[in-house]
Amino acid sequence: MSFLDQVINKAQAIIPMERQVQGMHMFQKARQFVLGDKQPVFVEKKIPDVDEVALTDIDMSNPFMWRQGQWRPYFKRLRDEAPVHFRADSAFGPYWSVTRYEDILTVDKDFETFSAEPQIIIGTPPEGLDIKMFIAMDPPRHDEQRAAVQGVVAPKNLDELEGLIRSRVQEVLDSLPLNETFDWVDKVSIELTARMLATLLDFPYDQRRKLVYWTEVTAAGASTTGGQSDVDEMWRASADMAKSFSALWHDKAARLAAGEKPGYDLITLMQMSEDTKDLINRPMEFLGNLILLVVGGNDTTRNSMSGGVYALNQFPEEFARLRADPGLIPKLVHEIIRWQTPLAYMRRVAKKDTVLNGQFIRKGDKVVMWYASANRDERTFENPDNFIIGRPNARNHLSFGIGVHRCMGARLAELQLRILWEELLARFDDIEVVEEPEFAQSNFVRGYTRMMVSLTPKG
Ligand code: HEM
Repeated sequence: MSFLDQVINKAQAIIPMERQVQGMHMFQKARQFVLGDKQPVFVEKKIPDVDEVALTDIDMSNPFMWRQGQWRPYFKRLRDEAPVHFRADSAFGPYWSVTRYEDILTVDKDFETFSAEPQIIIGTPPEGLDIKMFIAMDPPRHDEQRAAVQGVVAPKNLDELEGLIRSRVQEVLDSLPLNETFDWVDKVSIELTARMLATLLDFPYDQRRKLVYWTEVTAAGASTTGGQSDVDEMWRASADMAKSFSALWHDKAARLAAGEKPGYDLITLMQMSEDTKDLINRPMEFLGNLILLVVGGNDTTRNSMSGGVYALNQFPEEFARLRADPGLIPKLVHEIIRWQTPLAYMRRVAKKDTVLNGQFIRKGDKVVMWYASANRDERTFENPDNFIIGRPNARNHLSFGIGVHRCMGARLAELQLRILWEELLARFDDIEVVEEPEFAQSNFVRGYTRMMVSLTPKG
């Protein structure tokens, strides 16, 4: 470690973390004032039908693709005509789109050619907010940090969590209104994921919605994913998070030092691991690991909870099969996650010149693995746009990625969805989506912002 690094580390250990974040914010604001603000602004325009567009002009980074339902024909054309496709000048710079299932397997498994550093989103975060997370690190650093925290979702911990998850699901479902329409996204999907995250972090339960707010703001930057978050708001949310999470860290450390039995929450696990026990002294990395877990488990699970209801409304004969045989629930869960594909892609950067499916990719090029397309690839999934509970290879979906970065929370997400559907079928004959849902503005998160439903209790 250089002398400068040592000085910075010392300073970081003394100055409260939120002050450091606020300091960085002030510095970046001053810089922006001098250099000008480079944040893109996205205004929604009608996306033309895919056959009206030249192949080279196709731009899957348009954050309105999902909202306007154009993503399916666009991806189909790319899979058929240009499965490894170069877009020279998007709002996020040049990038390759990889859209076939088999090609994505090749990229995701080869971390020596395709690096997850420095970011896994198409764009670039606002200067200074490039928070370090192990999802965006290559081995060996990635492996050390992942190993330190993955105990939180180890099977033993999940077994212990199951009862708790079920009682939280029951509480939420038992409080739903029966004689009026309501927003499923707010009352069920967000509420349940917030409760789960608060449990994993041992975060003050009554403040759980803060976790949702922070992650929404930090994951929706214009320069990162084409979202709407204001940069100052992102900085303020980061400072707030830093304050809360470091208070949680210090509180836990004091309790451990006083001889309290260690719990299984994320912060305790970090404090017990050699590699992460001093993470508090590396603020951006500390924040990054917590944000990763919170963002990782927030938008994804939440949108699967909404996506499942939406899918079953579009395929009512599948809903009828499920109602008649709740034993199908484990298969339902795989199909929901395939069909929804809550995160549209992960990005890599080529570490050396390489050839992928006949295309020459240069060292330094951005390569985007479109899981949303892989999961609809007719070469792998028969009738891929149909929602079919029990399709033979549903669990081979790529929604969790594959390789060293394969989702750490996959089993937890599946567990939550299984319990949700068990409890739903025990209570309701129907969950009717009464109007078209509203979708998030993002090229990354395939999110629902509002979905009005009405419930029919079991007769
Ligand atoms: C990584 C999706 C739920 C925590 C990932 C990746 C994807 C993903 C696509 C990157 C895979 C790759 O690069 O190959 C999903 C989906 C979920 C979900 C679709 C729900 C349906 C969760 C939950 C948690 C979580 C509940 C929290 C406990 C993580 C973490 C990583 C990750 C920590 C980074 C793993 C690494 O880099 O080694 N997830 N996720 N995810 N996910 Fe999830």
